[in-house]
Amino acid sequence: MSAVIEIEGLRKTFHSLRNGRRVAVDGFDLLVEEGQIHGFLGPNGSGKTTTLRALLGLVRADSGRMSVLGEPSPELLPRVAGRVGAIVESPQFFGNFTGYRTLRLLARAGGVPVSRVDEALELVGLRDRGDERVKGYSLGMKQRLAVASALLKDPRLLILDEPANGLDPAGIREMRDLMRSLAASGVTVLVSSHILGEIQLICDHVTIISRGRRVAAGRVDEVLAGHDRHEFLVRVAEPERAVELLHAAELTAVVDSDALVVNGVTDSTVISRVLGEQGLWVGELTPLRPDLESVFLELTGAGEDPSVPRQVDHAAPLPGAEGDPIDLDVRGVDA
Ligand SMILES: Nc1ncnc2c1ncn2[C@@H]1O[C@H](COP(=O)(O)OP(=O)(O)O)[C@@H](O)[C@H]1O
Ligand SMILES: [Mg+2]
Repeated sequence: MSAVIEIEGLRKTFHSLRNGRRVAVDGFDLLVEEGQIHGFLGPNGSGKTTTLRALLGLVRADSGRMSVLGEPSPELLPRVAGRVGAIVESPQFFGNFTGYRTLRLLARAGGVPVSRVDEALELVGLRDRGDERVKGYSLGMKQRLAVASALLKDPRLLILDEPANGLDPAGIREMRDLMRSLAASGVTVLVSSHILGEIQLICDHVTIISRGRRVAAGRVDEVLAGHDRHEFLVRVAEPERAVELLHAAELTAVVDSDALVVNGVTDSTVISRVLGEQGLWVGELTPLRPDLESVFLELTGAGEDPSVPRQVDHAAPLPGAEGDPIDLDVRGVDA
């Protein structure tokens, strides 16, 4: 597996008259390898966008080492820019242009053959709607148009910052399907999000950030396994008596409404044996596995930045990031 993105010890501090000094990214590490769909997860204000902007040379890092497709970034990013598509923050387009015209302009500006426009529209499922004006597009279609703009160059790496933002469940599903098909065609995808919606269902690897620091990273199943408390939900006729029996057998158990939860058990047959020996028959024995959402909340629960609006990132565009589609060398379509 070769590294597509490597970040080590990234640090970025913002200084402003109003807020003083603010450490946005605080010694952060990220490793994305070829072929991954890598989820970059963290609450609003945890430093995701700043990390991506620093990686792409859109903001200057204080310190840290970064590389993209093997080239030190941002210094030698131009060498690989043709193989990287990125959309950081919500893109804006001219409402009066059609999707097709928007992409054709971007293709010309980026030195990409115009023939690529049809392919990009096809890839994002907008081929039939390319002749319509962008102002008639749904938010999901605009997001897909943004992805199409990043796909013009036929990139090997696609970086999407909060692509599910503002989308309804159907739009999120479309975005998820799109990412899955891109990954199937061999594109490495790094996708950031502050909501553990359906986008995260498709990630095979995750890096979780909280207050500018990495708090978990790795394969989704490994991250989950690391937070497995070996808990089981047990249903029996007499939960209180069952708890007593389990305590007597030195197991940790609590009554939870009409059932009980036993934890720290690696072999669940112990539970049914202890209870069965005393004539209490187990009706249900279900492992309680952690899901990504509970791990995320556990790791970042106190990590939300209260000064940053919840849910909708683009409610407060950052200075200098007013939402242009940032495609490295192809940019500048603005409303
Ligand atoms: N241009 C900026 N000037 C000052 N502070 C900023 C700027 N950009 C981001 N920040 C601050 O840095 C922190 C991380 O923000 P950001 O990277 O946008 O987080 P995320 O993308 O995870 O929501 C926040 O506290 C935010 O207010
Ligand atoms: Mg952000």
